[in-house]
Amino acid sequence: MADVQTPQPETGAPPPAGTLPTGEAILQVKGLNKRFGGLQAINNINLDVAKGSIHAIIGPNGAGKSTFLNCLIGLIEPDTGEILFEGKSIKGLKQHRIIQRGIARVFQTPQIFPGMSLTENVTIAALSKRDGEFRFNPVTPLNASNSATEEAQSVLAQVGLADQRDVEAEHLSRGDKRRLELAICIAAHAKLLLLDEPTAGMSRHDTNRTIDLLRLISEKGMTKIVIEHDMHVVFSLAQRVSVLAQGAVIADGTPEEVRGNPKVKEAYLGGAH
Ligand SMILES: Nc1ncnc2c1ncn2[C@@H]1O[C@H](COP(=O)(O)OP(=O)(O)OP(=O)(O)O)[C@@H](O)[C@H]1O
Ligand SMILES: [Mg+2]
Repeated sequence: MADVQTPQPETGAPPPAGTLPTGEAILQVKGLNKRFGGLQAINNINLDVAKGSIHAIIGPNGAGKSTFLNCLIGLIEPDTGEILFEGKSIKGLKQHRIIQRGIARVFQTPQIFPGMSLTENVTIAALSKRDGEFRFNPVTPLNASNSATEEAQSVLAQVGLADQRDVEAEHLSRGDKRRLELAICIAAHAKLLLLDEPTAGMSRHDTNRTIDLLRLISEKGMTKIVIEHDMHVVFSLAQRVSVLAQGAVIADGTPEEVRGNPKVKEAYLGGAH
């Protein structure tokens, strides 16, 4: 069963988990294909992601989930098809251009500057947003930019890392590194966040803290696509689930609808994983 939650009163807040979102699409994927040699890794994917929603992508190992996300962020160029973000094509754009449009990706290993403090890590993200393009100037001390530092402190407080703000990032626990990475995405004002197995390898405790944090940042209207094997996470967060198998979308709907779909059961059993 999906968690029963009270609908969020704030504007821009997503509908509760398990309720199909109705808003306009922030991302539209049309007829996407990607072939690696003889393997059709992405096979005619059509998918809309509603603004402000949490959209999960599940499927057996090798289904093409990570490849799909890599196409969205510009790490892999699709062969054919179209990707529209806020109505404009991002297909074929370089990764940094896509990031500038407001798409961010959380990797399985957190992407942070390990030798820098939490405040410095988040300040860099706030500065990169303000300047439009990341340009690191080693001559200008980071604290010369007070507004970005203040924003960093505020974001660190929101994710529950305020008391560790002067600690070097490498000393954080795995769960806290993930929180820091999400703080970086908030400070960079990402509109669409792509998460590839964000709770992989985490304890149940850290997984639940990550779920809470992802809910919190959803209340700010940030749209998310989450690849996830952990059904507890999918059912706790997602309004909509798309199931991939052999590069194609084989089912799509609420977590409850997808769970009961015989094609989905077959795909998982057939995948022998
Ligand atoms: N760069 C690449 N070159 C060749 N084949 C690739 C490449 N990247 C992925 N593949 C293949 O494409 C298929 C889809 O891989 P992908 O990593 O997208 O699957 P996945 O759904 O993310 O799987 P998992 O659940 O194991 O993470 C696999 O068969 C994989 O071996
Ligand atoms: Mg993967």
